Amino acid sequence: MISKDTIQQIQSRIDIVDIIGSFVKLKRRGANYLGLCPFHNEKGPSFTVSGAKEIYKCFGCGKSGNTISFLMEHEKYTYAETLRWLANKYNIEIEETEVSPEAKFYQQSADSLYVINNFGQKFFTEALFDTEEGQDVALSYLKERGFREEIIKKFQLGYNPAAGEAFSKAAILAQYNAELLQKSGLVVMRDDRLKDNYRERIIFPIHNQSGKVLGFGARLIKKNDKAPKYINTPENEIYVKSKVLYGSYFARMAIDKADECLLVEGYTDVVSLHQAGVENVVASGGTSLTIDQLRLVKKYTNNLTIIYDGDGAGIKAAVRGMDLALEEGLNVRLVLIPDNEDPDSYVNKIGASAFIQFVENNKKDFVIFQLGLSLHEAGNDSAKKSAIVNKIAETISKITKAEHFTKRQDYVKQVAEMLKIEEAGLNNLVNKFIREKVQKAENSGQFATGNEKLLEAGKEEGEENLVDILFNKDENQERAIVRSLLEFGMKKWDENNTIADYIFKEMDANDLESMIENKNLITIINLYKTWYKEGKNPTDKDFLYYEDAKLNNLVINLMDSQTEISVKWVEKFEARVSSREDLFREEVISTLGYFKLRKLKKLITQNQLEMEKSTNETDQFLFVKIHIALKAEEQALTDKMGTVIFK
Ligand code: CTP
Ligand code: MN
Repeated sequence: MISKDTIQQIQSRIDIVDIIGSFVKLKRRGANYLGLCPFHNEKGPSFTVSGAKEIYKCFGCGKSGNTISFLMEHEKYTYAETLRWLANKYNIEIEETEVSPEAKFYQQSADSLYVINNFGQKFFTEALFDTEEGQDVALSYLKERGFREEIIKKFQLGYNPAAGEAFSKAAILAQYNAELLQKSGLVVMRDDRLKDNYRERIIFPIHNQSGKVLGFGARLIKKNDKAPKYINTPENEIYVKSKVLYGSYFARMAIDKADECLLVEGYTDVVSLHQAGVENVVASGGTSLTIDQLRLVKKYTNNLTIIYDGDGAGIKAAVRGMDLALEEGLNVRLVLIPDNEDPDSYVNKIGASAFIQFVENNKKDFVIFQLGLSLHEAGNDSAKKSAIVNKIAETISKITKAEHFTKRQDYVKQVAEMLKIEEAGLNNLVNKFIREKVQKAENSGQFATGNEKLLEAGKEEGEENLVDILFNKDENQERAIVRSLLEFGMKKWDENNTIADYIFKEMDANDLESMIENKNLITIINLYKTWYKEGKNPTDKDFLYYEDAKLNNLVINLMDSQTEISVKWVEKFEARVSSREDLFREEVISTLGYFKLRKLKKLITQNQLEMEKSTNETDQFLFVKIHIALKAEEQALTDKMGTVIFK
């Protein structure tokens, strides 16, 4: 791990305008810089970079973040890669901290597995090209299927000889560890001996994003009903099936360029299409797409086109993953290959250019396709039809990201037409699903970003409810407290205390933490407290570079939103008030005040409910007394806040 010290050094050197400016043409506009957003297509600039705040934000697509998240997003670096890139740029020497023994062991096994796979790949390629058996049995088979030598070499295909120990013996001779060899899946232990797991099979190495071999797929050459057609690497430290897309290493540039990713089922489909000049293609291996695989696609493009054989089981599996794809904001289209062919056999049958034409002419929108399919199945059955309406509304409701609002509305329109139902009715149904989802997310403490726009969209649709749920007062108050802490925490409250001291004291005295529902806000408060106690002067910037992207974004949104209260003050006292800065004490008092007030209101409501339920007089008397006391406290608090506001 890169040491904290190094990270701090890097942070102190970061100049966001300089770094983003080397990727995006920026022009000065007031205190900020403005340019064309690199994350979406636009004609007028809405991408803003603030040097002082060390953040960027696009008012077109809503993307925002700091220098590190910019590099991660734009250059597809991991967090660690980004730090290394920055360290290199600023000539900062990287200091690594001690890693735990477990992590070290894990890292060592992972490293060794890469080495073994590399050895395996070389062995199999040699066996394919440079042995008689390989040429006779395997190379001739591949050539018969139409694969040319250059493509076989590019994909590093290979052959594991039929004699059951050819590879094992070579691996043992090269002194690889028996346990790790088994972990790699290349060998198995049988009768106390290491044997080849992939004997007499064609080997398809599977590469990671930087071209290293993660694992293998191994295909039978001779038809054999007793053995599976393919054997794949078992899950280990480096091969995690749900995160791998076959061919992504060879496809990544082409996907970026075409702004589209083609998805097929099999290894041979990928290799054949590459040979035909279609290089923006990856394979899922016939299972449903996972969220990690979709995110891998999303690093390069938002457009996913599935090319599957229409009758196969594969299409059903693919369909299962598609709600997830919509949720991720991908535009999913579908092309069905006819006549029991798959992309590999079809491109061989009709030729490269006819195949490309066919794909171009037969792309169907996935949602619309799915609807057509189920309508066809339902026929005249009205119960089935209403189930379809529900299902499709749920599918459409997965498109919740603010920037995809128009897309959602387009679907509503089209689908309503196809189903011959009222658009408004369908809209309501879709909104119902969205509300349910938002509610669930809120209950589990998440707060989706981009909600503000969704909110506006909701308003346009006359959906007051949605507004309440998404942007209820509670969330605003919670956020205001944390915002005050981040913005004013290190300012003086009085001679002996900072604002942070005051906020923490007030929160403890009134047990306000238990009132905060968004758990991420509590995390921020506690981190702040820890850093403050360590003698630091925490600010929002410390969170911008914190490794947890959830927190970065929350803090960016917090600091970006004007708190309602202060805006109102400025309006009311425009003559007297120069800026919210001058009002920070009042803002803190009032923010905490509202929160205490809310707590009191909750207590009062609870007490009233108890009062209504109770049947005996002594209890009732007690509840009335509590009620009066709480009401008095509420009054006192309102008065106090009033004096602050109107002094
Ligand atoms: N697959 C697998 N295990 C199997 C069968 C299939 O992992 N026993 C995966 C492989 O990734 C394979 C894909 O599912 O590439 C599609 O299977 P299939 O259509 O049967 O194979 P093809 O790739 O078309 O291979 P071929 O053209 O050689 O028949
Ligand atoms: Mn095939």
